[in-house]
Amino acid sequence: MKVAILGATGAVGRTMLRVLEERRFPVDELVLLASERSEGSRIAWGGRSWEVRAPTQGAFRGCDVALFSAGAARSREWAPVAAAEGAVVVDNSSAWRMDPDVPLVVPEVNPEAARRRPKGIIANPNCATIQFVVPLEGLRRRAGIRRIVATTFQSVSGAGQKGLDALAAELAGGSSADSPFPGPIAGNAIPWIGPRGPDGWNEEEDKLRNETRKIMGLEGVPIAATCVRVPVEVGHAVSGTVELEEELSADEARAAMAEVSGVEVWTDDRDPLPRDVAGLDVVRVGHVRVDRDLPRVLHFWVVADNLRKGAATNAVQIAEMLLRA
Ligand SMILES: NC(=O)c1ccc[n+]([C@@H]2O[C@H](COP(=O)([O-])OP(=O)(O)OC[C@H]3O[C@@H](n4cnc5c(N)ncnc54)[C@H](OP(=O)(O)O)[C@@H]3O)[C@@H](O)[C@H]2O)c1
Repeated sequence: MKVAILGATGAVGRTMLRVLEERRFPVDELVLLASERSEGSRIAWGGRSWEVRAPTQGAFRGCDVALFSAGAARSREWAPVAAAEGAVVVDNSSAWRMDPDVPLVVPEVNPEAARRRPKGIIANPNCATIQFVVPLEGLRRRAGIRRIVATTFQSVSGAGQKGLDALAAELAGGSSADSPFPGPIAGNAIPWIGPRGPDGWNEEEDKLRNETRKIMGLEGVPIAATCVRVPVEVGHAVSGTVELEEELSADEARAAMAEVSGVEVWTDDRDPLPRDVAGLDVVRVGHVRVDRDLPRVLHFWVVADNLRKGAATNAVQIAEMLLRA
C-alpha cells in the first residue's frame, strides 16, 4: 500500500510511523509530508530513508490511505485534495469530526460507521474522547446511559511537541516563548484547553460532549465535561460519572467494560496511572464505584496513551479496517 502521512514530523505523526511498523501495516511506499520548515529532512522507516516534503497538488496521487495529523487548517485545505486524488483520508484534527458526511470512528465502538464516507474522509475523535468512549460502550451495551459527567486530566503531549517542549523548559527552570498553554504548566493544573466560548465552555469540553454523542449515538443524552491540562508528559486520565438506565454492581460494571476489546479493568487496590500506559495501546479502567446515594450512578477512572490509542493507534486501526474491507 502507498501511505501518506501529513504531519509526519509531529508528536502524533512520529507515533503513527512507529505504530505502522509495530503492527506490520503493509506499506510499500511512504509519502511523508510536513511544513516547509521540515522540507528536505529525512526520516528512517522500514529500513529506508524517506524524504519529508511540503504538501502540494498531486502529492497524494496513487496513495491508498492518507493519515493526517497536521492541525485543522491543514486538514481543511488538504483532505479534499487527497480524497480527490484517490486516497481515503483518516484525519486526526477536529476539522471534519462533526460533519454529517464524515464518520467519526473508534473501531471498538462504531466500526460500521466507517463504511459510509461520501467525502472519502474518516475522522479520528479527540484523544480524551477516544479513551473514554471505549469502556463507556461496555456500560451502554449492558445497562443503557442516561447522563454523563467527565473530568479529564490531559497530558502536555496532547498539545503536540510544543506542549512537551514547554513542560521540559519549565522543569529545567526556564520557560518557552512558544508554550501552547495559557500559564505555567509545571507544578500546575489548568482547566482551560482550547478557546473558551462566551458561555464559559472550553472547546475541548464541547468536543468531548459532541463527539461522544456522535460516536455512541447518544443524541440528547446530557454530557458535561471539565477538561484540565496537567504536567504529565504522555497519558491522559478521565474521571467518569455515568447515570445508567439500570442498576449495576461494581463487579457487573467492571465485567461490562472488560468485554470491550482493548479495555483492561483493574480490580485490585492498584489504580491504573497515566505514566504506566505511556507507550501502550491499552485503555485501563480502575477505581470503579457505585455512587453512595444514587444506585444507578457509577464512577470510574480511565487512562490511556493519548498519542497512541488517543490518536495514532486509533487511526492505524481504522486504516486496517479499510484493508480488510
Ligand atoms: N497530541 C495528541 O495527543 C493528539 C491527539 C489527537 C489528535 N491530535 C491532533 O493531531 C494533530 C497533530 O498534533 P500533534 O500533537 O502531532 O502536533 P505537533 O507535534 O505540533 O505536530 C504538527 C505537525 O503538523 C505539521 N505542520 C504544521 N504546519 C504545517 C503546514 N503548514 N503544512 C504541513 N504540515 C504542517 C508539523 O510539521 P513541522 O514539524 O514541519 O512543523 C508537524 O509535523 C492536531 O490536529 C491535533 O489536534 C493530537
